[in-house]
Amino acid sequence: MNGFHSYAPGDGHGLAHDPLNSIVAPRPIGWISTLSADGIANLAPYSFFNLFNYRPPILGFASTGWKDSVRNIQATGEFVWNLVSEDLGPAMNATCASVPPDVDEFALAGLEAAPSSVVKPPRVATSKVTFECRLSQFIRLQKADGGDIDTWLALGEVVMIHIAQDLIVDGVYDTLKSRPLLRGGGPADYFTIDESRRLRMTRPA
Ligand SMILES: Cc1cc2nc3c(=O)[nH]c(=O)nc-3n(C[C@H](O)[C@H](O)[C@H](O)COP(=O)(O)O)c2cc1C
Repeated sequence: MNGFHSYAPGDGHGLAHDPLNSIVAPRPIGWISTLSADGIANLAPYSFFNLFNYRPPILGFASTGWKDSVRNIQATGEFVWNLVSEDLGPAMNATCASVPPDVDEFALAGLEAAPSSVVKPPRVATSKVTFECRLSQFIRLQKADGGDIDTWLALGEVVMIHIAQDLIVDGVYDTLKSRPLLRGGGPADYFTIDESRRLRMTRPA
């Protein structure tokens, strides 16, 4: 098409870097803590992540390949989502290192673990919002022709929520105050948000 860089993803993007995750961006980060069957804590970031339902709240993330987080969730049925604020960026980044399953990534990143209330995996003590989740569905992704892909979508019902009091202003949760770190694209881009970029749009009746 004239004026467009058009390609079928299966044939390659033909660019210096795959644009896909720069296009669907910025994305919230699913910083997921789990426990292995042996009780070793694991923590890793997933930006193929989102909230999918209000009541009950259901969130999910996709693991490209059979990684420690999905292995642990399959074994225990539990995980915790931890909000990544800007100040926690370096620690979050440290937890994406590819390390053996017997390495506790809380210790690796110098993070304190706090006990959860209703699930066993710990939460990140310094994360200002954490959701305790129980696995509700585990889905292996497929191509349009039905062929299996080595990508696994874990969906969990949020059974307990912890919000730092200072993020609640006059009874309203203040997204800006949490300074969420958002994943851009390319090898290293992240974004954050500030008041000057706030837009308000009410829905048509
Ligand atoms: C910001 C960020 C987002 C990431 N998103 C994903 C993702 O959506 N899916 C994925 O499979 N890996 C993702 N990764 C890579 C994983 O974090 C990395 O493979 C990690 O070692 C997996 O840890 P685990 O084996 O302990 O689960 C991401 C890394 C970073 C830094």
